Amino acid sequence: MRASKGMRLRRAGFGGGVPESRRLHLGCGGRRVLGWLNCDVSGSELDVDLAAGRLPFRDRSVEVVVMQHVVEHLELHGQLIPLLRELDRVCTADAVLWLSCPDLAKVCAGYLADRGRALKDDRCRRYPDYSLDGAPVQQFVNDLFQARGRHRNLFDFELLAWALGRAGFGRVEQVKEAELLAAHPEFPPRRDDDQSLYVTACRSR
Ligand SMILES: C[S@@+](CC[C@H](N)C(=O)[O-])C[C@H]1O[C@@H](n2cnc3c(N)ncnc32)[C@H](O)[C@@H]1O
Repeated sequence: MRASKGMRLRRAGFGGGVPESRRLHLGCGGRRVLGWLNCDVSGSELDVDLAAGRLPFRDRSVEVVVMQHVVEHLELHGQLIPLLRELDRVCTADAVLWLSCPDLAKVCAGYLADRGRALKDDRCRRYPDYSLDGAPVQQFVNDLFQARGRHRNLFDFELLAWALGRAGFGRVEQVKEAELLAAHPEFPPRRDDDQSLYVTACRSR
């Protein structure tokens, strides 16, 4: 497929056209996973702006999509739902989406339980360099909501399932990270079930 006007897309090391893949890893960041087409807004195998409303893939050409900690970066109505509708277009009838993001329900429960201390301790175990720069611990809850301006929207299961349903993915199930890793062991673990929501989504039958 040729890049259409307005599509921000850069081909990286694939020669001619947009590479085809049945397995998309969207918003990959620094985590390039072997056997997948690793896409991000820049510096990836295929640079795609997921907020642009159009994906550079053929109809019904994709069988599985993994998008970890990306949906919260997109505005709900103007960006995320259009992206999910594009995934509906490019996915085969039996395709599976695996999504994860900070869990609005766990974040709010964490604030009420201990102002976010257990959530912050969990982050520090996984990222020992993480720091609140001396701010009281509840600032961690703000960080989960805002990520210094990068987050647009947090989701609990109901809200994410609603957005997926608007785009034709009517069968949404909450899962654990372990289920993603069992299905696709090539993904590096995040070990973030304590603060993240993991779902799979398929088309309604
Ligand atoms: C929190 S990081 C997650 C990275 C990786 N998925 C992981 O699990 O570590 C969010 C990623 O989403 C990407 N992202 C945010 N908005 C995007 C957009 N509009 N188009 C493409 N990628 C985007 C960012 O560049 C970043 O790499």
